[in-house]
Amino acid sequence: MAGTTGERPATARVIAEPAAMRAEILTARAAGRRIGFVPTMGALHAGHVSLVDRAAAECDDVAVSIFVNPTQFGPHEDYADYPRTLEADAETLRDRHVRWIFAPEAESIYPPDWATRIMIDGPARRFEGEIRPGHFSGVATVVCRLFLAVPADVAYFGAKDWQQTLVVKRMVRDLGLPIEVAVCPTVREPDGLAMSSRNAYLSPADRSRATALAESLALAEQMWIAGDGPTALERAMRDHLGSRGVTVDYAAVVDSESLEPLAGAATAVALVAGRLGSTRLIDNRQLPPRRGTG
Ligand code: PAF
Repeated sequence: MAGTTGERPATARVIAEPAAMRAEILTARAAGRRIGFVPTMGALHAGHVSLVDRAAAECDDVAVSIFVNPTQFGPHEDYADYPRTLEADAETLRDRHVRWIFAPEAESIYPPDWATRIMIDGPARRFEGEIRPGHFSGVATVVCRLFLAVPADVAYFGAKDWQQTLVVKRMVRDLGLPIEVAVCPTVREPDGLAMSSRNAYLSPADRSRATALAESLALAEQMWIAGDGPTALERAMRDHLGSRGVTVDYAAVVDSESLEPLAGAATAVALVAGRLGSTRLIDNRQLPPRRGTG
């Protein structure tokens, strides 16, 4: 039962081997413990910590994976430079009721003769799927692989990567994977910037411009409440981002579950992605329900 904190250790055990990790989880589950899993690529920040805290509140034991997944990076993306900070991450997780840190080597997730990849369409098709070909295939493949190594009851993902949450939920549904997916609210800096490991790349000038993403989403919400339609919101978000020096990849208002154009009474999400210098940021905001799409 969640809340038996006395039985939970202050420091996590670091496990590298998928088979050893799986055995630990299966033993704990056989003893009746509910297991929460937080998959990450490390460089942990307050957004990750909020997922861990939620898992610790809802489960008896928590596993966190730290693995910079090569298959979700494009050839010209930041895989080589992505921060790898295992010791600092373990320190961040101290006293947060994490029992295991799963930190595999790339070779144990993708052996040299690895030949399998999950292809996913549906919610993976547009936006990040168009701009980063192969990205969601890499995410789906590694998340499936991680779910096998950490066969938990429930896995926690942040709403900041909204499209990713839809992709993972669809894969779980389509493949019948025996795990619940919980989506947790985006954690923001005091000025509204969504927490991301990539924020650390921003120069001071770009860091102050980066608030434009959250501002454009707040503007979209105001316009939505005032009765404006998706096209007007998209134009306003683009204009605002452009005026703050953000090179816009997309600014869109779409069905929040399918990410296709709005129709009927579907709930809407505003999505933005753009670049400041060489740093690419994404953010989103669920728009309040209203009748019709305007
Ligand atoms: O959101 C992330 O950090 C990654 O995409 C994930 C889910 C850990 C898969 O590598």
